[in-house]
Amino acid sequence: MSTTENDFLYNTVLQSRQYCGRNSKIAELEKLVMEGKKIVVYAPRRYGKTSLCQNIIKERFVKNTKSPLPIYCDFMDVNSLEDINDRLGDAIALSFNHFFPVKSTLKSLFSLIKNASFSINSNALTGEMDVQFVPGSSDKLKLEKNLSLLLTLSKKYNLLLIFDEFQDLYYVNTALAKMRSQLQQLQKTPIIMLWSKKKLLSEIFAHNNSPFFNFATEYTLPPVDIADWVPYFNKRFKSVNLTIDKETLKELSLLCCHVPNSICEIGAALKVRLKNKAITVADVLETILEIVNQRQQSYRFQLSPLSSNEKKFLRIMSEKAFVSSFLNKDFIASLRLSASGTKKIGERLLKIGMIDEEEGLGLRISNPLLRYFLMTRH
Ligand SMILES: Nc1ncnc2c1ncn2[C@@H]1O[C@H](COP(=O)(O)OP(=O)(O)O)[C@@H](O)[C@H]1O
Ligand SMILES: [Mg+2]
Repeated sequence: MSTTENDFLYNTVLQSRQYCGRNSKIAELEKLVMEGKKIVVYAPRRYGKTSLCQNIIKERFVKNTKSPLPIYCDFMDVNSLEDINDRLGDAIALSFNHFFPVKSTLKSLFSLIKNASFSINSNALTGEMDVQFVPGSSDKLKLEKNLSLLLTLSKKYNLLLIFDEFQDLYYVNTALAKMRSQLQQLQKTPIIMLWSKKKLLSEIFAHNNSPFFNFATEYTLPPVDIADWVPYFNKRFKSVNLTIDKETLKELSLLCCHVPNSICEIGAALKVRLKNKAITVADVLETILEIVNQRQQSYRFQLSPLSSNEKKFLRIMSEKAFVSSFLNKDFIASLRLSASGTKKIGERLLKIGMIDEEEGLGLRISNPLLRYFLMTRH
């Protein structure tokens, strides 16, 4: 896929020039970061969290800060303390190599990091220095070591920590408590924790016996404004002489439960299918059906590990955009399962990310296009 400015990109992390709208939100978040705040950025999956923080916010922080050292670490599906430690170690090493590629700086860093599980190697061919995280030493306190290295680094550099899919630490015994006790010492360091599961959010940050109780400012990323999508779409449609108005985009966004990834996926498909016209809602609906038709193999594959009750659950969910609760009587009745059985399936589907929960709206199938597949192919 080419990645010119005028393409619609989806299922990928975007650069800032590809990011549509959210300007005031970006400015607010940037301000909180510059103030050294701890922030939990919540939005459902595929809403643009990683692109926003890993690229836009990080770039601005680097531009506006003296001796910046941003560290981005993704905790998606972590399964043990060792795994957490390895990811943190790799993230620190990656950042060193990016921000201190010069030999002399790396050498001076060595005095800071020699006690941690890192090695500095000199590349025989280029003569350049390179930091590597060395996992698997016998030290049982490795995670604490990496975390306390962050504290040491924070005295010399301006750190920005970005922890993606932070909620996945919840499933690793003692991980949150260990993180909390070290992170709270980083008093002036901005920390962004990206979060995509609504339910765990209140359990971890608002529950008074959770280690992260009151630790961070909660920040919800809203949908992209329709007014921002209008120029974004029309700019990308220009080469095929398509146009789209605000009302049609409003419908398109609604059909996607405002998930930007699906909005862009439909944008890309419209551009392939049509030219020389003003897009109507009927064009959008036909295009959705065509995408669903083309992707049926891949959707079937995604659903294949699920049990028949789980698939049935999703099919019934797909009939509505949102289900208020798994305990909703009509919902349980159409599933013909017990309330506790229904809840158990729902919680598993939430955990594996097939279902998302939205504040004030309820539960929905995470990928809106998969929802249309389930609706149309029983
Ligand atoms: N502001 C935006 N403008 C354009 N596309 C966006 C925007 N936010 C998200 N997207 C779409 O969503 C996709 C996933 O973005 P990503 O940052 O990985 O989301 P998340 O981390 O929330 O899952 C992108 O490839 C893009 O298609
Ligand atoms: Mg992400």
